[in-house]
Amino acid sequence: MGVKIRTFRRSDAKMVRKVLVDGLFSNVDPAFYVGVRRPSVIATGLVLTALMYQWTLSLMYTITFFVALLCLYYLTLLIAAHLMTKGPLFDDIENVQRNYMKPRRNFWVAEADGQVVGTIAITLRSLNKPANECADDVAWLRRMAVSEKYRRQGIAKRLVETAIDFCKRNKYRRIELITTEVQLPAKALYEKMGFRCVNTWARRECGFVLWTFTLVYDIQQDSTYY
Ligand SMILES: CC(C)(COP(=O)(O)OP(=O)(O)OC[C@H]1O[C@@H](n2cnc3c(N)ncnc32)[C@H](O)[C@@H]1OP(=O)(O)O)[C@@H](O)C(=O)NCCC(=O)NCCS
Repeated sequence: MGVKIRTFRRSDAKMVRKVLVDGLFSNVDPAFYVGVRRPSVIATGLVLTALMYQWTLSLMYTITFFVALLCLYYLTLLIAAHLMTKGPLFDDIENVQRNYMKPRRNFWVAEADGQVVGTIAITLRSLNKPANECADDVAWLRRMAVSEKYRRQGIAKRLVETAIDFCKRNKYRRIELITTEVQLPAKALYEKMGFRCVNTWARRECGFVLWTFTLVYDIQQDSTYY
């Protein structure tokens, strides 16, 4: 299979959005498994199920209720993912050309069989930081996703290598990104490629708490930033 990594073109816009939306929805299953293992979720589920049994005294109703709770939780995650694709989280890809095709930023796609099957972007980290924390030598890696059918073939690795090369050529000192506990394959990939986790924090996304990791890749060794 020939996979080509190339810079974004206007005609890619729809396919880019599809890859990223599919990538988000592919994280719903991992989010479900992470969620149902949370002590607070287990406790709430058990209390509600016990109350149901006390009320109906029927094992069948209680089991049906428990399964319905799980389905409801999964459905909520699907709705949350859907809302995210319509909200500010996806604003930047509504106009990739305007947001990324500028000096020291870029957006790449992986093309296979005439289709966009992977994406990655570099922008300035300082865009989302308060003015006093701005650092123009810190790049922000975003928007990495690979279509499910094309995963585990080294495409994301090639995309990240392309982004790192770009940052080296553009004299960035460091690359920063965030990922979450439901994106452990991505975290494994970044760590394999030399990124290190410098911060772990709880982030609220559509009412759900997500453990989130800040990872950095040092282009020039400099420990004064953190
Ligand atoms: C994360 C993602 C981009 C990886 O894409 P990919 O093309 O399958 O990754 P690669 O084939 O380049 O994998 C490179 C290495 O990453 C790690 N890796 C990738 N997928 C993995 C998985 N499911 N489980 C464990 N490690 C994984 C492995 O070390 C792998 O090397 P190996 O195949 O030699 O073992 C893809 O799974 C994806 O699009 N996920 C949904 C979107 C997402 O979460 N994006 C991350 C945003 S921060």
